Amino acid sequence: MTKHTLFVCKSCHRSEEELAEDQACDGKILLDTLTNLAAQQFAPEDLEIKSVGCLWACSRGCVTAFAHPEKQTYLLIDLPPDEEYASALLQFTQMYISNRKGAFIWDKLPDQLESAMFACIPALSATEQNADEEDDLS
Ligand code: FES
Repeated sequence: MTKHTLFVCKSCHRSEEELAEDQACDGKILLDTLTNLAAQQFAPEDLEIKSVGCLWACSRGCVTAFAHPEKQTYLLIDLPPDEEYASALLQFTQMYISNRKGAFIWDKLPDQLESAMFACIPALSATEQNADEEDDLS
């Protein structure tokens, strides 16, 4: 089985104020919290948490993305870097891993994430399949 990836922007910071020299930014705090919690819940062969420098939604931090080659990709924004949201993200991770297409039932989405869902990008395999179907019609 191909591994699922949770990308976490390590550079996001939600405050307008300058960071102190020794202060971790919010993205790094969320990344560390997710990494620690996920180690207790997921096997390394099922989930990889990858730190990225920027996910291009900087004014809407913290930002994460769920990806798998055969599933739709989800971009989540406006995530506070605390344990409550990290736990909600990992609940969603379980839903994402469990569904063949990465689909989920909206009513079962953790409440914290309802307003965080920002983009859903089709799986590459799905777009290739659609292109094949369109070719068949022409
Ligand atoms: S700094 Fe986090 S998305 Fe750009």
